[in-house]
Amino acid sequence: MTIESIPVIAIDGPSASGKGTIAQLVAAELGFNYLDSGALYRIVAFSALQRKIPWHEESLLAEMIQTLKIKFLNGKVLLNDQDISEEIRTEAISKGASEVAVHPKVRNALIDLQHSFRQAPGLVADGRDMSTVVFPDARTKIFLTATAEVRAKRRYNQLMSKGIYANLDLILQDLRQRDERDQQRTAAPLTISADAKLLETDNLSIEQAVNAVIQYNSSIQT
Ligand code: CDP
Repeated sequence: MTIESIPVIAIDGPSASGKGTIAQLVAAELGFNYLDSGALYRIVAFSALQRKIPWHEESLLAEMIQTLKIKFLNGKVLLNDQDISEEIRTEAISKGASEVAVHPKVRNALIDLQHSFRQAPGLVADGRDMSTVVFPDARTKIFLTATAEVRAKRRYNQLMSKGIYANLDLILQDLRQRDERDQQRTAAPLTISADAKLLETDNLSIEQAVNAVIQYNSSIQT
């Protein structure tokens, strides 16, 4: 089996659109591998903070990436064999991830690692540029979105259910800032690829969204 023949389902979309949850469930259902590309930008932001490298230092960040040993194991994120799954999900690291992600050198330094996830029998990859830059030859491309208000409410509920105090207005403000940074940057901006299927999830449950992706995927394979 050549690399090009291994199917990829690319799922892109803005923050808190539910990409991660939906992509993981689709991968589990199909028995495919899963790539959480956002986790890579989070790891870069986290690691830079540990090493006191400012998030605007493009070249230093790109050099730092070469020294990182990143592994995904049973749903956990390991950095140099240390489990940092929880640490990379804070709001501060979310902001840092979107700041380091604007740098072309940072994005290039993460490309090979992302390609290495394309293994048989297939891959579900989620992020901002899966359809446009990382896996442009993916057969199935989905752009998953919801209004900023609905996404903010989801993030709010997620934090509160973990016992983390949250303020809905601040979350909405933060989300809009990140949307704007992701859409306005010149390197791999968040944009809907011309050949992607738009899936709006405002009124869809997780199960309905997963089913919609699976149905669309099988419809274009025939
Ligand atoms: O949960 P949320 O969607 O906010 O975050 P994420 O998917 O973990 O991504 C964190 C940040 O990494 C985003 O705000 C993007 O700026 C950046 N990112 C990116 O630039 N390209 C990707 N393929 C994935 C994430």
